Amino acid sequence: MRFAERLDRVPPYLFVEISRKIAAKKAEGINVISFGIGDPDIPTPDRVVEELRATALDVPNHRYPETDGLPEFRIAVADWYSERFGVTLDADKEILPLIGAKEGIGHASLCFINPGDIALVPDPGYPVYSVGTWFSGGECHWMPLLEENGWLPDLTTIPQDVAKKAKVIWLNYPNNPTGAVVDSNYLSEVIDFAREYEIAVLHDASYTEVAFDGYRPISFLEVPGAIDVGLEFHSLSKSYNMTGWRVGTAAGNREMIDALMVVKSNLDSGIPNAVQYMGIEALKSSESEIAERNSIYESRRDRVVASLNRIGLKVDPPRASLYVWARIPDGFTSAEFAELILEETDVVVTAGNGYGPSGEGYIRLSLTISEEDLDEGLRRLENLRISSS
Ligand SMILES: Cc1ncc(COP(=O)(O)O)c(C=O)c1O
Repeated sequence: MRFAERLDRVPPYLFVEISRKIAAKKAEGINVISFGIGDPDIPTPDRVVEELRATALDVPNHRYPETDGLPEFRIAVADWYSERFGVTLDADKEILPLIGAKEGIGHASLCFINPGDIALVPDPGYPVYSVGTWFSGGECHWMPLLEENGWLPDLTTIPQDVAKKAKVIWLNYPNNPTGAVVDSNYLSEVIDFAREYEIAVLHDASYTEVAFDGYRPISFLEVPGAIDVGLEFHSLSKSYNMTGWRVGTAAGNREMIDALMVVKSNLDSGIPNAVQYMGIEALKSSESEIAERNSIYESRRDRVVASLNRIGLKVDPPRASLYVWARIPDGFTSAEFAELILEETDVVVTAGNGYGPSGEGYIRLSLTISEEDLDEGLRRLENLRISSS
């Protein structure tokens, strides 16, 4: 069999490695506790699942959905943007439903990247930005996210010749894996940069609804000029505990929405209608429902940060996202430290370098773990004896 070379460009998917290690331990009968994947353990709200039950029985919903989704779903997304961020969007021209944000993020590169083009990609970052670029024949220019810059790419370090060849800049705030957030001043600078070099800004806003201490993250589209240069991806996965249902959205510049629609309508047939009705119901969630859910993650965040501090790891408590990003002690690589934790405590954490070279020196812990496992996992972690060889 001769496969296409593009497959060789993809490093093994991060969680495949983790899953394999967990499986080996489990096969030995060991109770492994995982802080690995960001997949909410809290169930989808009952009333959202009820909507699936009701709409699944309607025969028209058994047929192909439209790629551009139900008009009612697009209107619900527009209403949500208006209420949540004060952003006015045209539901027909500026919103496109996605089969989860991942699908849209992966397909977006096909809209912009010709072979040899450059994508500006955050490092560390969600791997789909780079993989989508490679599948389209492009190259990634890594933008290091460093603690001293508040985990924001320093645009002044991007060489001019790279900026000139770049077609897109990927951003993601609240950020996976660092948990960092962004303000409108920085996003304004990005918009100026994008205008200067004719670059599309692709902002992944999958975590705006998971935030702590009363903080409410902003949307890229709130910033003046954003809609002229970019798209924002949203996900109902983390916002409403809906990872299993696969529903997300792209919103913003209408030409970019049209381009994504060309790609998608030729490759997929949209989100099942009944799942879109679930999405409509989910988007009606009240501020207090979101706050109640976030208070669960906030308490977990505090406990994880306290335990990591107790074993001497330096951690800035994140204001948003589902992740705690912790600097590891000197004398270890990220992979070695994650391995040490797994071997000594049967606890899984993710090695930071799996998100890009600048993730070296960090580990990531996800807060999407049951209370019982969290307590047990932290108890084990606090017993970790750290001594580098
Ligand atoms: C930054 C980021 N974007 C997108 C996604 C995928 O979201 P969805 O479930 O909507 O495909 C994830 C999932 O972990 C993520 O971390």
